[in-house]
Amino acid sequence: MTPADQPGIDPRPLLGEFASDLWFPHYAQGVWGPWSVRIIAMPSARGYWGQVYRMAGTVILSGPVEHGEASWMSIVPMEVESQEIGIAAARGHTVVLGLGMGWCAANVALNPAVDRVTVVERDPQVIALIEALGIVGQLPEEARAKISIVQADALEWRPDAPVDSVQADIWAKFVEPQKWDDVRRMQDNIGAASFYFWGQEMELWRLACRESGGVPDGLDRGEIARLIEGTGVPLVCPDWPDYGDRIVAAAPWWTPRAEGWWA
Ligand SMILES: C[S@@+](CC[C@H](N)C(=O)[O-])C[C@H]1O[C@@H](n2cnc3c(N)ncnc32)[C@H](O)[C@@H]1O
Repeated sequence: MTPADQPGIDPRPLLGEFASDLWFPHYAQGVWGPWSVRIIAMPSARGYWGQVYRMAGTVILSGPVEHGEASWMSIVPMEVESQEIGIAAARGHTVVLGLGMGWCAANVALNPAVDRVTVVERDPQVIALIEALGIVGQLPEEARAKISIVQADALEWRPDAPVDSVQADIWAKFVEPQKWDDVRRMQDNIGAASFYFWGQEMELWRLACRESGGVPDGLDRGEIARLIEGTGVPLVCPDWPDYGDRIVAAAPWWTPRAEGWWA
């Protein structure tokens, strides 16, 4: 696909004052079975770490959930900030679980530490819409050549070669009761050397709350490392000195309000 053939919507200007060095494909509006890609106005949005940014709008992927339809992905500060740790940590053979808008998979392929990207997506209509929009085709040849897309259930799929890192994002919500079970099942099947999953900070916060029987005052690096070790999953832990403070700042926005949700 040449630049002239690219679909018309560039999400970057819609992000307004939110800046990112990551790559954004162009999208086009359309409907694929129960899935749709639309552009919507959005005057502001909260990032994952709590800050609010003035924006113009976003491109959004909506699709089926158990009882109707929901937004599965959109190009907003929250999605960018909540996936960039995993994108930066990707290396070698990386498995991306959940294709969505193809944004994370494309950025993983652009990471020079990555030489192969296997994307596992359960819904053929999502794969069809990403093909129709030419998302992979908009990448430079070197990144494009790394990507293969497999139609399979991420909870059952097993790799044909060793996996260095996983980026898992098959959920519509940050916090879900079965998320830790899903993550352990994926890791049991894949045996990756390192694993990042969308919203892992909120699920680590759940463990911290559970352990202290309420909302802790803070979370330091030692506690995060200990919580990660207890999960038995080789979760990515960025070496940011303020990782714990960020989790504490983000948690009120992305976890349920009800007391005891962590149980
Ligand atoms: C939140 S979106 C992924 C967004 C993606 N990170 C991006 O950057 O655009 C989740 C995707 O996971 C897919 N999915 C949900 N459950 C799945 C499963 N069990 N196995 C494979 N894919 C699944 C959905 O169809 C959807 O395409």
